Amino acid sequence: MKDIRTQFTALSDTTNLVYLDSAATALVPEIVLDAMSLYYKKYPANVHRGLYDMSIEATQQYEGARKSVAQFIGASPDEVVFTSGTTQGINMLAVALKKQLTSDDVIVLTRYEHHANLIPWQQLASEVGCELRFIDLILTGDEKYTVDMESARTCIDAQVKVVAYSAASHVLGTIAPIQEIQHLAKAVGAITVIDAAQAIAHMPLNVKEIDCDFLVFSGHKLYGPTGVGVLYGKKEHLEKLAPVSFGGGMVETVSYTSATWAKGPAKFEPGTPSIAAVIGLGAAVKFITSVGWKSICAHEKDIIQYAQDVLGNDTHIEVLGPTHDTDRIAVFSFCVSGIHAHDVAEICNRSHVAVRAGHHCAIPLLKYIGKESVVRASCGIYTSREDIERLATALTEAKRIFSVT
Ligand SMILES: Cc1ncc(COP(=O)(O)O)c(C=O)c1O
Repeated sequence: MKDIRTQFTALSDTTNLVYLDSAATALVPEIVLDAMSLYYKKYPANVHRGLYDMSIEATQQYEGARKSVAQFIGASPDEVVFTSGTTQGINMLAVALKKQLTSDDVIVLTRYEHHANLIPWQQLASEVGCELRFIDLILTGDEKYTVDMESARTCIDAQVKVVAYSAASHVLGTIAPIQEIQHLAKAVGAITVIDAAQAIAHMPLNVKEIDCDFLVFSGHKLYGPTGVGVLYGKKEHLEKLAPVSFGGGMVETVSYTSATWAKGPAKFEPGTPSIAAVIGLGAAVKFITSVGWKSICAHEKDIIQYAQDVLGNDTHIEVLGPTHDTDRIAVFSFCVSGIHAHDVAEICNRSHVAVRAGHHCAIPLLKYIGKESVVRASCGIYTSREDIERLATALTEAKRIFSVT
């Protein structure tokens, strides 16, 4: 994996950068930049409209990206809707599913959701008048910060219509017990929505094997560009759902008083899409496939173990996440005793170590685990053991400045 760093310009030797904020936005390899640049240089036309060569080429590249993304997650292309990101995908679903819910229903989430997979469901619940339930986490012992399956079994009963959960937590790094949650949800006929914003870059996800109804993610967490994301939906669901926004390119027929909708993903993609970003996302998934999940997972495991050794051996650092490497991705939130998270992040930046500090768009989760603000170091395929050592050195400097002994 060492060679991979050369493909990321942001990591060139001159920057001396240790980038540990991939959970916010991952760096972008040259091959993705080239794919987007080629679009603007050679065929910067709109898609699905023109009968001239440039537009035909743009359409082929755009639809080619849909095929690549579909293959990447084990879907068929007509189950892949391009969005602007995870947030938009979940909002679309929460609006579109409103017609299927009544005040007798229940929506189940976990305690660790990002605001993007919380607030849209809160809005839906308050509009419909239905209940929201939260699957607890285990907060003590060996299994600390993993999903409490006892709580999941209690939450998911016959009243539940939607179970929406992150496949991996962006704060704790916790990997959800996907198959178990799916099993519970399917047993009561609930619709499952997986927020794969984090998991998508850390583990292979096959929607057919998982048997989820919907899965959403963003391009920019996956070494792709910002401004693009994916909403996967089982074909029968996408056919049934009504669109939530309207305009050009999504209709079959239109009169002055009414319209009918196009078949397939087009129904959910009104207006001009982020064409270059979609093409960039197509290049990003091909890039990951070419690196291979076997190497990515082996690298991830190595970084998890190394980071846990380095951070875990420091009595002034409290790592907030599962201890077993099989229960987590390489996203480490932690507190340094006696130093505010923002001070830690600022001192890290002095030695070009980029970490994130704050509530990470998970204010209820932080309250739940008794924290106000935490530092997060999140890794990608380019993260090296040296990066973790540089982080440790920066943390030692922070402790020196704050006289933490
Ligand atoms: C788990 C999770 N869900 C949703 C989001 C929102 O993603 P975006 O801002 O790309 O829409 C994030 C972003 O950090 C995330 O980590």
